[in-house]
Formats: sequence, C-alpha cells, structure tokens
Amino acid sequence: MALTDKIQQLLGEVASFVATNEAELEELRLKYLSRKGIINDLMAEFRDVPNDQKRLVGIQLNELKASIQEKFNALKQEIISHEDVDGNLDLSRTPYPIALGTRHPLSLVKNEIVDIFARLGFTVATGPEIEDDWHVFSSLNFADDHPARDMQDTFFIQSQPDIILRTHTSSVQSRVMETQKPPIRVICPGRVYRNEAISARAHCFFHQIEGLYIDKDVTFADLKQILLLFARQMFGADTKIRLRPSYFPFTEPSAEMDISCNICGGKGCSFCKHTGWVEIMGCGMVDPNVLDANGIDSKIYKGYAFGFGVERITNLKYRVSDLRLFSENDQRFLEEFTSAH
Ligand code: PHE
Repeated sequence: MALTDKIQQLLGEVASFVATNEAELEELRLKYLSRKGIINDLMAEFRDVPNDQKRLVGIQLNELKASIQEKFNALKQEIISHEDVDGNLDLSRTPYPIALGTRHPLSLVKNEIVDIFARLGFTVATGPEIEDDWHVFSSLNFADDHPARDMQDTFFIQSQPDIILRTHTSSVQSRVMETQKPPIRVICPGRVYRNEAISARAHCFFHQIEGLYIDKDVTFADLKQILLLFARQMFGADTKIRLRPSYFPFTEPSAEMDISCNICGGKGCSFCKHTGWVEIMGCGMVDPNVLDANGIDSKIYKGYAFGFGVERITNLKYRVSDLRLFSENDQRFLEEFTSAH
C-alpha cells in the first residue's frame, strides 16, 4: 500500500481509538507514538518518497502525527479525570477538579440574620412571590387608594382579581396569621419586586426580611429590645440605635430605625450623608385592624412587626456601593466572598 493510502486509512481510524485505563493508553502509545511505533515506521518509509511528492506527503504525515497525539492527550485527560484513587474507572463520577462555588453575599448576610433571630426564638416562614392583592395590601390595612398600589410601584400580572409581584414580604406575615394561632414569632425572608428604574441605588427587585411577633402583652419596649439586640449582634456591641416616628398602614405606632454608622463609627461620612446614622428598617406595633382582618382577636392579642432590606445590611457590612453588582453574576465580584463562611 502506498504511504499516502496508509496515512489516509490511519487518519480515518484515529477517531475510533479507545482507551479506558492507563494500561490501554500505554498500549496505544507504544503502538503508534513510541520509537518502534507506527508513526516512526511511516517516517522511515517517508525517506523513500520521490522528491516531488515529499512536500504533500510530509504535510499528511505531520497531520496524522498531530491528530494521534491530540487523541492520545484527550484520552489521557479523560482517564485521569475519571479514575479514583485505586485507578478504577467510574464513569458516573463527577470529573474533577471540582470548582466549588461561593455563597452569594446576600445569602451570607441573610443566613447570618436568620441565625440571629433563630437564637431569639423566631422561625422562618416563606410564601409565594406572585401574590394576590389581599395578602400584599388589603389584609394589611392599605386603603384602596394607597399610592403603593399604584402601577408605579407594583408590578401587575393580572387585574381583576389583581395578581401582582409582592412588594414586601409582609404578605407572608399575613399568610402566617391566617393559618397559625398566637403566639407567633416568625421572620420572613424573600425576594420582593418594585417598579423602579435600575441604578446603583435602586433595583426592580431586592430582598427583605420581615419579622412578626404576636402574643398577649407585647409592648413597644419588647420591639426596641429585640432590634437593639439584633443591631449589636449584626454590627458590633458598640452599635447604637434610634427610632424615629414614621407611618406604615399596617403598624400603629410606626417607626423607622437608624443605627450608628458602622463605616465611620458615627463621626460622619459619605455613606451616612455626614449624619452619623443610617436608616435600616421600618417597624411598629401591628395595627389592630390587621390582626382582626387576619382572624386574630385584637382585644386579646398584640404584636410588633419590622422589616428591612438585605441589600442595605450587606452594603453596610461589605461596602458594596452598587446594587447592580448583586444580580450581575460577575464572578470577580462573587469570588471576593470566598473566604466568608
Ligand atoms: N413592609 C415594610 C416595607 O416593605 C417594612 C415594614 C415591616 C415596616 C413591618 C413596618 C413593619 O418597607
């Protein structure tokens, strides 16, 4: 058979080479690539090729050699990645190296918050992101014309009956009240949606954790105490809190809580707009209307509620200055959290 025919034939065979372990791979190497292997035999034959054909046959021969070498390397990789320590082949095994992912910074912070409240006796409750008007607004004492219901804030999926993307996880609190009897002590982490233009400081979705405690004799002092405990565990024992009067339809009285800026230690910096304080959450005593609307007798029971954004807490903890980083999945950003637990 002429040399070029042999080369062509071998080229056709390369793809079907198999080796499932090191020994078979070595056989392959000996047969084709070793000093006494086929390629070297062909090289010897090449010497007798007439000069005018040398160029063409030479190219073919090099091509063959490269493709055998390539196939050999590929088989070798496959064997290395599938062999366990004893050298046995296990095709069902995940190939390594196994690149371990990192936890997302928002998950890290959420877990930390959940841990703090779990130690204080709160359990986690979750609910749907696609909700009805009742659980997001009506059961929480929102007047029919409350601006939060407006198209500008709420993403509507369907109208009459209104099906929307929840704008806060208070909807989960409403669902918990519906199905559980007091005492209730839950926190509700989850993603919420608001129709806002995306920028460094606002996004159309973010993450919240809301808390609810209902029992007999719950007071505003209990609320303040739990929030102080949370702030100190989350941001350090020196952290101070202050409560400012505010308004929410579902709490009365309502307040907004600030913590002493943990970036400048309260001295004033650009993050706290030189006030020394950073607002982190809304809170208040559950409005009796809300208890009654959700089947809990407001003459017997009282409660407090609070809610905050996980992004904000994460910004304070890790100084992430652009909200968009949280959802862009840029590995360079995510890998910065590799050493966090
Ligand atoms: N639901 C409010 C919000 O989304 C936060 C909040 C929760 C305020 C509970 C008071 C009490 O901003």
